[in-house]
Amino acid sequence: MKVVRVAIFASGTGSNALALIKKAQRLSGIEVAFVLSDQEKASVLQKAQEEGTKTFIVTRKTDRNFQEAEILELLQAYQIDWIFLAGYMRMLSPAFLKTFAKWHGDASQVVNIHPSILPNYPGVDSIRRAYQDEVFETGVTIHLVDEGMDTGRILQQESLIIDPQESLESFSQRMHQLEHRMYSSFLESLTKDRKTFYFEGKM
Ligand code: GRF
Repeated sequence: MKVVRVAIFASGTGSNALALIKKAQRLSGIEVAFVLSDQEKASVLQKAQEEGTKTFIVTRKTDRNFQEAEILELLQAYQIDWIFLAGYMRMLSPAFLKTFAKWHGDASQVVNIHPSILPNYPGVDSIRRAYQDEVFETGVTIHLVDEGMDTGRILQQESLIIDPQESLESFSQRMHQLEHRMYSSFLESLTKDRKTFYFEGKM
């Protein structure tokens, strides 16, 4: 079976990126070809390098098209099959998503992980907002990426009950553990069956 080649896009800490890299190291049939960041100082870069994973920095340009053109060149050069967003703080344009889908038989192969049960709490600070609202439970979503903010088709969700006695710090930690487990097992699932989600944007 062909090796599935993954690129991870991340802007920050990189705990999800690290979990994916470590999972891929234990699997055959999948390879994290590189980690890409738009932030020169993101600690994800060091984490990836310590695991022997290639990293690239493509900083923001005044025109998003220039940044995305550079990224598309990398994706093509490394024959990337799937993009995993892991705390990547930049929206991808419809043109970018369309081009990447075209390379894969019009299939959407860009996913994101988000710390809430979407459509609740999209955007930033979702764990803290849910905690402060004292909701009974929140959770984690893996979804396809479209041009909106956390609006793509939902692929998987798991919920987590907030213990009212628990600190925000401890709850956040449990949320991140759940993210790492879910994203790693989604990665692993790509080695088992070919998933096809047809691109729903305009071709
Ligand atoms: C995670 O909570 C992820 O769900 C969200 O951004 C955060 C990134 O955290 N999209 P990390 O950099 O992977 O630690």
